[in-house]
Amino acid sequence: MSQSTTRSANRSDDTDPGREIDHPLFAVLYDLLPQSLVVAPHREYLARDLSGRVLELGCGTGDQFPYVAASAADDLEYHAIEPDPNMRKRAISAAHDAGLAVDLRDARAESLPYPDDAFDAVVSGAVFCTVQDPAAALAEVARVLKPGGEFRFLEHVRADGWRARGQDLLTPLWERVAGGCHLNRNTVDRFVAHDAFAVEDAERIGLGVFPVRPVVRGRLRRRREGVVDLSDLAPAVGT
Ligand SMILES: C[S@@+](CC[C@H](N)C(=O)[O-])C[C@H]1O[C@@H](n2cnc3c(N)ncnc32)[C@H](O)[C@@H]1O
Repeated sequence: MSQSTTRSANRSDDTDPGREIDHPLFAVLYDLLPQSLVVAPHREYLARDLSGRVLELGCGTGDQFPYVAASAADDLEYHAIEPDPNMRKRAISAAHDAGLAVDLRDARAESLPYPDDAFDAVVSGAVFCTVQDPAAALAEVARVLKPGGEFRFLEHVRADGWRARGQDLLTPLWERVAGGCHLNRNTVDRFVAHDAFAVEDAERIGLGVFPVRPVVRGRLRRRREGVVDLSDLAPAVGT
């Protein structure tokens, strides 16, 4: 079965859904990180013109919420998942402070508690570095997005050359102090290779410093099953 027609998440063997996600110190430190002017345009990119039913994966302390509230369409129905109770507690007050109604659930990206085709858009900011099973999480994004729906992301990824080797060396320690974050994942390669999605935009941006660099932001469109997407075909000769 092709990835685009798979309608349930495939969980790889190393996923332990019973493993607790509970990083109180990381939640405090993450909340203290300044939301700098450098990050703001990219948070605006994630939030821009969202409408309909939208799901944010791993919303952390809710840093994205003010940007969503600032550009929310009238019909926006915002949902978020966050498995770490320390993060979730902060996200609840961030939603309150931003005046944003959020249906926030304790769930993991690898096993989303929503039916197929539930959302017009799914948003992810620095989450695929941390999820236990990125393949299962991406399959879940494809499952819950409506055909034609958008997956919008901002993720740090594996670097090139010696920097990638440095990330490999640092990741075991980094993972322990940064809430499970992997520095060296080929996250966006995984995204663009997935046949459930057409790539609309994917660009490296000048954000982050080694070892949390490069950072890529982009938009994928959920393909429509059983329908040939004509925009994906090269134009015929003579047309
Ligand atoms: C680096 S933080 C990013 C937080 C937020 N998205 C932001 O833009 O600031 C990564 C978040 O992913 C959450 N997370 C960890 N494992 C997860 C999983 N399996 N599914 C969804 N979120 C997860 C963490 O608890 C944490 O809040």
